[in-house]
Amino acid sequence: MPVAVGIDLGSTHCNVGIWHHGRPEIIANHHGLRATPTMVAYTDEEVLVGEAALTQMPKNIKNTVFGFKWMVGVAHAELEPHVVQLLASAPFKCVQDASGAARVEVTHKGEDRSIGPETLCSHLFEHLKSIAEQFSGESVGKCVLSVPADFTQQQRDALQACGKAAGLPFSLISDPVATAMAYGLDRTDAEISSSGRDEAHASAKATVLVVDFGGGGVEATVLTRRDGMLAIAATERDATVGGDVFVQRLVEFCAKDHKRKTGMDVFESKRGLLKLRRECESAVKALSMTQQAEPYVEAMMEGVDFKTRITRMRFEDLCYDLYDRAKEPILRAMKACGKAPEEVDEVLLAGGIAHMPRIQALVRGLFPEKTVFGAGLFPDEAVAIGATIQASLLDAHPNPAGANVPLPQSLPLSPVALGLRCLPPASADSDPEASPQVLAVINVGEPLPAQHKVDLKLARDGADGSLTVILQVLQLGSEEPSVLGNLVFAELPAGDLEFEVGLTLRTEGVLKAEALEKKSRAVQSVVIGKA
Ligand SMILES: Nc1ncnc2c1ncn2[C@@H]1O[C@H](COP(=O)(O)OP(=O)(O)OP(=O)(O)O)[C@@H](O)[C@H]1O
Ligand SMILES: [Mg+2]
Repeated sequence: MPVAVGIDLGSTHCNVGIWHHGRPEIIANHHGLRATPTMVAYTDEEVLVGEAALTQMPKNIKNTVFGFKWMVGVAHAELEPHVVQLLASAPFKCVQDASGAARVEVTHKGEDRSIGPETLCSHLFEHLKSIAEQFSGESVGKCVLSVPADFTQQQRDALQACGKAAGLPFSLISDPVATAMAYGLDRTDAEISSSGRDEAHASAKATVLVVDFGGGGVEATVLTRRDGMLAIAATERDATVGGDVFVQRLVEFCAKDHKRKTGMDVFESKRGLLKLRRECESAVKALSMTQQAEPYVEAMMEGVDFKTRITRMRFEDLCYDLYDRAKEPILRAMKACGKAPEEVDEVLLAGGIAHMPRIQALVRGLFPEKTVFGAGLFPDEAVAIGATIQASLLDAHPNPAGANVPLPQSLPLSPVALGLRCLPPASADSDPEASPQVLAVINVGEPLPAQHKVDLKLARDGADGSLTVILQVLQLGSEEPSVLGNLVFAELPAGDLEFEVGLTLRTEGVLKAEALEKKSRAVQSVVIGKA
């Protein structure tokens, strides 16, 4: 029988889960490992993916490609600065093709080839499919792939096309929603209560913060939970404080140490640097459990070994600024949806660097004692577990409309309150007496896309002469609302005026304001970037 599969598409590692004996299980790859490197290598004979690509990397660094999760569905010119930086320092070459797309240049089977990120992803998906099939001995049925909450529709569409090309069609879920599902927060309050888990608290868990400390950055998301329905209220990411950056700090420390002892600069040896990086990644992981680590690289460069010792305290010292920066997306996400730390009912941690004791302490330090911290899951596997649960639900309820159990959803919600102000003041049709200075139109937490129309009346008591009216589009929330845009109606005719104003806030945060003055039929509109 086809098996339901969930995949966490990580920028450094992917995890694969299958639904097995009524529960999600993270499975081992062909090498017996539960995390598969997000890496593709081109050799003279074949294309290698995952662990096999990582293993051969030192002897084939120019043709071993990583970091492509951030390239799919994004034009070269639109790549985020951290991706541009990553690609610039990568041993493989990334270029822009004539259509503006990013491509990597490799040598494969003796020929120079230009490869798009979609092809790299398709290789990866074929490989992940084979992991699930080999482990379960079954074909893949429903499959769910988890992606960052802030991935655009274009990125999502491009990934789904890659899945189809790889013979692995999948549905998508956002990482934080998957994490919340892994912790059982997609269940209704009644289900949670009847399971005996934290009965008193079940119905109160309305605001959940998910912080994913991954290899490629920190993503903090506030979710609102209404009786098992999960919706994203705000999400913020900082791509400059991922696990890779912590590892890099240790690499720099070791490189300095080696130079001091031998006079050799490991940054001059691509292969030596690669070996050191891998060793440093293991040391960073070890330091989450032990008080000290001893990175050792045999014949790191010119046949000379490298060995040093580092304590956890010294390592934390090397990274002191990163811990502060790691807090920022958490604070920004809460601010974006107007939540104070004491209003967060439960905090869930995901991602590899959530293992670090200092990271755990810093998150705990942001919240009052009473805040519940999700426990019982390996943070680096939480996303794949949630994706697997979603795949099993899709399997059980292929037609959500007809299903008894509503499928968990990830409804994006408006992170801001938006309104209007008319200069000179008009009155809202609903309350002609009020003549409000500021009229609230879209509320914080409203499901997106949000679309509202309001009517404004400007009584001019028989005044003659033409008039210029400005309708200001406002972001509300602070004492003095900020003006996002203006709709200017110049020289409107004498007499009473009547405006019909529409505000549309789309999922990706683009706001459109459109207004019609009914008497003159004058129309003004403005599109405002990310609100
Ligand atoms: N025990 C540990 N202690 C410290 N760091 C760890 C530990 N385990 C893994 N890491 C680090 O976590 C990172 C990988 O985490 P994870 O698999 O969550 O990232 P990812 O999903 O690939 O990245 P992203 O979600 O940003 O795309 C790596 O940088 C790795 O070095
Ligand atoms: Mg991840």
